[in-house]
Amino acid sequence: MQITEQFIKLDTPSTSLVFRRYSELLEIVYYGAKIGDAADYDILSSHKRKYAHSCADDVITANMTFSCYGMGCDRVFSLSLKNHDGGYANKFLFRGARAAEKPIIPGLPSSYGARETLMLVYYDEDYDLELRQYYSVFEDTDAIAVSSAIENRSAHDAVLRSFASCQLDTDGCGYTVFSYTGAWARERYPSVTQLSVGTFEQGTSRGSSSHAVNPFLMLRRPARMGGYLAFNLVYSGDHRERVECTPMHTTRITVGMDDAFLEHLLPSGSVFHSPEAVMLFGEHRADISLQMHRFVNGHIVPPCFLRERPVAVNLWEACGYRFDRGKVLEFADRAAEIGAELLVVDDGWFGRRDDEKTSLGDWTDNVEKTGGLKSLAEEVRSRGLKFGIWIEPEMVSPESELMRRFPQYVLRNPRREPILLRDQCVLDLTQREVWDYVLRCLRDLMELCSPDYIKWDYNRFITDAYHAPTSAGEEFSLRYIKALYALLARFREEYPGLLIESCAAGGGRYDLGMLCFTPQIWTSDMTDPVERIHIQEGTLAGYPQSTLSAHIASEVCQKTGRRTRLRDRFALALEGVFGIEYDLTQCSREELADLKQAVAFYKEHRDLLLYGDMFFAERAEDGEAAVHIIVSRDKTRAVALVFRLRQIFNCEQDKYRLCGLREDAVYRVGIYGSDRTWDVQGKLLLSHGLDLGAYFPKDRSGVFSNEINSLVLFLRQV
Ligand code: GLA
Repeated sequence: MQITEQFIKLDTPSTSLVFRRYSELLEIVYYGAKIGDAADYDILSSHKRKYAHSCADDVITANMTFSCYGMGCDRVFSLSLKNHDGGYANKFLFRGARAAEKPIIPGLPSSYGARETLMLVYYDEDYDLELRQYYSVFEDTDAIAVSSAIENRSAHDAVLRSFASCQLDTDGCGYTVFSYTGAWARERYPSVTQLSVGTFEQGTSRGSSSHAVNPFLMLRRPARMGGYLAFNLVYSGDHRERVECTPMHTTRITVGMDDAFLEHLLPSGSVFHSPEAVMLFGEHRADISLQMHRFVNGHIVPPCFLRERPVAVNLWEACGYRFDRGKVLEFADRAAEIGAELLVVDDGWFGRRDDEKTSLGDWTDNVEKTGGLKSLAEEVRSRGLKFGIWIEPEMVSPESELMRRFPQYVLRNPRREPILLRDQCVLDLTQREVWDYVLRCLRDLMELCSPDYIKWDYNRFITDAYHAPTSAGEEFSLRYIKALYALLARFREEYPGLLIESCAAGGGRYDLGMLCFTPQIWTSDMTDPVERIHIQEGTLAGYPQSTLSAHIASEVCQKTGRRTRLRDRFALALEGVFGIEYDLTQCSREELADLKQAVAFYKEHRDLLLYGDMFFAERAEDGEAAVHIIVSRDKTRAVALVFRLRQIFNCEQDKYRLCGLREDAVYRVGIYGSDRTWDVQGKLLLSHGLDLGAYFPKDRSGVFSNEINSLVLFLRQV
């Protein structure tokens, strides 16, 4: 970090962020590839800015780190207050910058292991408010963690109406926005929006980061500038991202909590600290995923989970609610036979849960089904497997003991019946009694069967947030998410080694907040590889493969009715935390042998597959093929997943280039399922590619879909 009279410069391993001070105005004058320290950076910006109350010209166009009404600017505001006198105008002037400790954000998780933190201080003299912004950089990733805090030093209360975690103003307009949107079973499909002048906005008010729009966002800068920007938020609740390209040809990006219901009382003497945001510059698109992955693996996921994750067999897709002890043990036998390491009993083991209408909240063993979970878990373990179990702790079914006894636990508007989604209601975790009850249920479950793994589900979103008069002034979504984090933190503290996989009707809460507690997330309920390739590719844009739970499901997908080859489902499961979700008890001997081989392959390459660097030579979003390559840090080993997504009839072009490898090395290339190997120069792999046409199955029977056709290659430097 370099701080001079006029300039502040912050470096990451390969990027720099430079601010320039013009008296009481601070401007971002550079964000891009790393530059050396210099005595001055005058050439970066030729403006002679000054801020004067009677002249707003500079604030209209300056690249600021925050914005509010009252300083002469009418663009998107990163912060908005209702002051004690009822007015909305504020004027924060720059007061100084210094190296600081990375702040701990009360009630919210944030990244760990920063190298250094810069604090910017602004002050509104008229209302006695201090704004502090923190920029933390890391040794091994270009991601920058940014958060903002506002302190009310006055003797009066104020109300916070919006407060973004991060604002980045940058030059130019004509940005291309890559957002990751969808719905249940269609999460994080990449979507591209070309901006000219105007505002792109996305976000959600559902109480969770949502299936609809992920907080991860990437921008391609206009060609004159080059490079990419990306943002994310360490938060699991309502969020909002805005990209405003102005008529003056500047662009403002704000990232933070949603402000639709934000009316946060800021009493005299109090501080409000935003969730942490992440921003990143990369010269190439490949840098964005690579650097984000490093950030998540090295600074978000708790270090104790940065190890091998067990290969799971989960009963859900095969059995739904229909299983009994005999079935579970049959699965366990097959799971052990094929080399899996964890058996997961999903939904349906408790209360009278034979369909989705009942029993959430009644976490009592359904002994008729399980024959006693404790001994069942032991029997599973005696086969050399770990035991895992599903729970949906934040929910209650109207048809349940819990609802009958404690209807007041439900999140609802007291004037109305709560709105049902998937026949269930949300428990109001913000009530202490409810929070205690849920923690007791989790402890009881641990007591009952000492699971090695828990799948923590959340199958609906919040529709009944209600601001009771006593809690006026506090946004519900934030309080809920804080209560959830406190619960996860306490539970993890009590059972530190326990592996938790989070899930929200598939990937409805796939975000950096959850990843601070649960290292892996069930990516999506969509298990048809033709669809899932887009979901996984979209997810991998911002999240590393170690977070992405990916299971081989049945040949005929229950959702789409499409029949696909085992090889295609296998190839996709390799780019995540590998598991199996289909009926092992109905498999033929050959199928079991194939699965055994698949599991062995995964285990052999597990470390590389989970933690290697991920590159994309071709993307499914471009329509023809996807080539995803996972390369070891030293570039001596790699696994390449080649997905042909369109069979162009009578066409000779079936060559696939790789990337991320060393040009000057020779690699021995093998294809999974074939005995042949080839020694190929890295340069050839990168520039010409491999002609793989002859190695895809030539299946014209019509039994299997040819909308996806995959090959798994493994490479080792010779
Ligand atoms: C959600 C999950 C599934 C399964 C079911 C059980 O949909 O995503 O994997 O656990 O709930 O009800």
